Amino acid sequence: YTAELDASDIEKGTYPHYMLKEVDEQPAVMRKIIMEYQNEDGDIKLDSSIREAISESDRLYIIACGTSYHAGLVGKQMLEKIAEVPTEVHIASEFSYNMPLLSKNPLFIFISQSGETADSRSVLVHIKKLGHRSLTLTNVGGSTLSREADHTLLLHAGPEIAVASTKAYTAQIAVLSLLAVDTAKAKGITLGFDPIQELSLAAQAMEVLVDQKDIMENIARDYLAVTRNCFFIGRGVDYYVCLEAALKLKEISYIQAEGFAGGELKHGTIALIEEGTPVIAIATQAHVNGSIRSNLKEVASRGAHTCIISMDGLNDASDQIVLPEVHEYLTPLVSVVPMQLLAYYAALHRGCDVDKPRNLAKSVTVE
Ligand code: G6P
Repeated sequence: YTAELDASDIEKGTYPHYMLKEVDEQPAVMRKIIMEYQNEDGDIKLDSSIREAISESDRLYIIACGTSYHAGLVGKQMLEKIAEVPTEVHIASEFSYNMPLLSKNPLFIFISQSGETADSRSVLVHIKKLGHRSLTLTNVGGSTLSREADHTLLLHAGPEIAVASTKAYTAQIAVLSLLAVDTAKAKGITLGFDPIQELSLAAQAMEVLVDQKDIMENIARDYLAVTRNCFFIGRGVDYYVCLEAALKLKEISYIQAEGFAGGELKHGTIALIEEGTPVIAIATQAHVNGSIRSNLKEVASRGAHTCIISMDGLNDASDQIVLPEVHEYLTPLVSVVPMQLLAYYAALHRGCDVDKPRNLAKSVTVE
């Protein structure tokens, strides 16, 4: 795998930080994934043994940590909605103590940028002893989780150097979307959209967003860099992106951040809203946008500084970031980009070490 790299992959070039470079690389990573997983007929090409492993299983168990776990949550949504395969997502370090009742023929999917995370590996060792099958999605061919699982799907994101994961997250979602689509096709489910075309549209949309850094920088400088805490709200798949947005902000800017489901606001968290508390909403799903907008009004009337990230330029928050239209299953690929940039600029304006945040390691090889 290393042989495929050229020097520019691991140098910052003119970028002040690897994180910013890696955020910018995301559209190119999407195109690389399309190239790697497309056959001559323009169809998705996955190893037929992976197709078989999925079709022989009755339930998928996604196991991961950190950002990869958040990509797994989005993956579950796609695997269930597009491919109609029951899917559970588990935090690796919890799985061993809290093992769910397994189905008869489970297939385990490990998601790991590095392929070396000890918590995930410990689950792999355990389920192999039980005789279960496994597939690893990783950015590093030849990594431990890749070698020890039955099957591997590579992310093709190129080396990710910044501790805070960005392009690996979107690569994981893109590859999971192809896995879902391939599984649906194998089951004879009619899709109603062209997955490759939708993915390349998402890549274009990401490009538009990475070119709007000044919008994100202004919001981050004025409202995030100066706050002690910050909340992200969303419903459905937007909620999963909120979890990742909060993690990103915590990791590199050390601001206390929480992502939660919009409907839960009234059950506790709203007590924390004070004058000026930033609340950022993601609203990409037509059927829940109305509810999220009323959540924003509730917090605004209690003094929150609100920001909405949505497709159609709704204008009832103090700030808004407009996302280009993409397929409803792929919205996490675009809604996460402003979140990554908000975290980046918040950290930058607080003078934090963006690429090497305190107390964190890129790859955690102890349990
Ligand atoms: C560490 C990193 C996180 C990452 C997690 C899982 O905690 O700091 O950014 O999401 O490990 O890593 P993996 O390589 O398994 O995706």
